[in-house]
Amino acid sequence: MEEKINYQILIMENQDIFRYKNEYPLRNWERVYEHLPNLKDKNILDLGCAVGDQAYDFEHLGAYVIGIDHNQDLISVASKQAPGSKFIRSEIEHIHPGLFGSIDAIWCSHTIGYLKDPKTLLNTWYDFLNPDGFFILIETTNLLNHDPVYSIYQEEIQNFYQKMEENEIYYFENGLHMDSILNETSFKVVKTIELDDQEFTSDGGLCDKATQAWKNRLNRAEAYQELFGPKFSSFKNDFLAMIRSSDHKSNCQVKFYLCQK
Ligand SMILES: C[S@@+](CC[C@H](N)C(=O)[O-])C[C@H]1O[C@@H](n2cnc3c(N)ncnc32)[C@H](O)[C@@H]1O
Repeated sequence: MEEKINYQILIMENQDIFRYKNEYPLRNWERVYEHLPNLKDKNILDLGCAVGDQAYDFEHLGAYVIGIDHNQDLISVASKQAPGSKFIRSEIEHIHPGLFGSIDAIWCSHTIGYLKDPKTLLNTWYDFLNPDGFFILIETTNLLNHDPVYSIYQEEIQNFYQKMEENEIYYFENGLHMDSILNETSFKVVKTIELDDQEFTSDGGLCDKATQAWKNRLNRAEAYQELFGPKFSSFKNDFLAMIRSSDHKSNCQVKFYLCQK
């Protein structure tokens, strides 16, 4: 595939945009794409499209993408990165077919954790799809469960997961319950795969890019440190030291689901 646009230069000061350039190569997108049905000439709805990394890839696989995100800065970058696609600024919870028309596939990667009522939303998305349409979901579980640090801060981490949910910021449990949530919807799961991910699922000392991604992630989490409690700083330091060490063991999973209507 051709070189993507350099959005570090495009919006240098916006860390939220720059993070995606760093994170993209850490995920195993190629393995995911191997398991997708033929996307040629398909209309794909990308929910939580961010900077349009996947829209760019799907365009190159012959698809037409409609990306949804509530962040205007991300939508602006996405429109430049994948000019053949359409991007709409909206809350995912508020979308309706009047915005995008006929849809062959829905893609939702690393976004379900932001949504309060995934079961209801999934059933709504089911209705958006054409009769032979499919739905692709990718989500992490146990994001911060990495030993040995997890065994030391287990209570704080579990409490943090719960507080983030109570404050309607992020629903860590969505990933954990994805199998049962999907079972309660009208979708039929036809394939489930656990993906390797250099940031989330690797053991031992992580590469520089993955270490940087965790630093950025934990820096962003500082905004919520009150929900974690007084041990946040020591947790952050211990976590960043742990991911450089050979005895680091990740208990985090990244799961891919291919579902049919
Ligand atoms: C972690 S990123 C995932 C980006 C991309 N799908 C990927 O897999 O790399 C989550 C994206 O969802 C967007 N998002 C989160 N909650 C949203 C909501 N309620 N409505 C619209 N966009 C939302 C964020 O702005 C962000 O771009």
